[in-house]
Amino acid sequence: DLPTTFDRPVHIAVIGGTGLGKLEGYTPVAALNPETPWGYPSSPILILEHNGHPVAFLARHGLHHQLAPHEVPSRANIAALRSIGVRSIIAFSAVGSLREEIKPMDFVVPDQIIDRTKGVRPFTFFEGGVVGHVGFADPFDAGLAKVVQKCADAMRGDGVRLHMGGVVVCMEGPQFSTRAESNLYRSWGGSVINMSALPEAKLAREAEIAYQMICMATDYDCWHESEDVDVAMVMKYMAANSQNAKHLVAAVLDELLKQENSDLVLAKHWEGSAQGAVKFM
Ligand code: ADE
Repeated sequence: DLPTTFDRPVHIAVIGGTGLGKLEGYTPVAALNPETPWGYPSSPILILEHNGHPVAFLARHGLHHQLAPHEVPSRANIAALRSIGVRSIIAFSAVGSLREEIKPMDFVVPDQIIDRTKGVRPFTFFEGGVVGHVGFADPFDAGLAKVVQKCADAMRGDGVRLHMGGVVVCMEGPQFSTRAESNLYRSWGGSVINMSALPEAKLAREAEIAYQMICMATDYDCWHESEDVDVAMVMKYMAANSQNAKHLVAAVLDELLKQENSDLVLAKHWEGSAQGAVKFM
């Protein structure tokens, strides 16, 4: 029964993943469900207020976690966020660790991606007469990454461990990797693995939105001598560390809200990267 309209642009959004289905400490003021040329988003976009500043929250897998990674309507999600004014996205994801030193419950702020999705998921806005090519050499936003680092540093006393930088391997799923694949990704320099970084990050770049993923390790995939990953393990570690995950995201939001109208949050540095092909969104 929240209002379905909101009269101001919302510059900052969180995309919540497995285990981060909501945000606490913020007051819901609206639930928007904009129809885009690519359909409706995964779930209505919740508008939350904190000290009078609005942020958007979108549950990637739907309100009831009903969407598998390859079913997430990423084009609708990104277009819907852009249509309400979003310029910066903090995206959360549970990941498998491909490195001994990245332990379950550690956070990782990746700076690179290896695409192991299979072209099954619609991955671009630029087709059907709209031609655009964006740079993707650095898929994440270094300015947002620094904000996450600063907030995580301040939470060290609560046992928060954060690794800055790293390569997220994004696989198609929904099955987990074979042991041979897991070892291959390690040999490629992969740090962590998930099923959600793409096409989200590519579409955000096409929409000229600053995008940074925060990963939380829930397992050692299947390369490690410890137990092989399964869903119960992912859920167990997400639950065990959900307070830290929520606090970290909340701290990042607080910091970004203080800079709500800065060039960083407004993603001035990404403006024009899609040569204006994004104008129709
Ligand atoms: N998400 C969490 N753990 C994962 C893993 N091991 N592989 C792919 N996605 C994951």
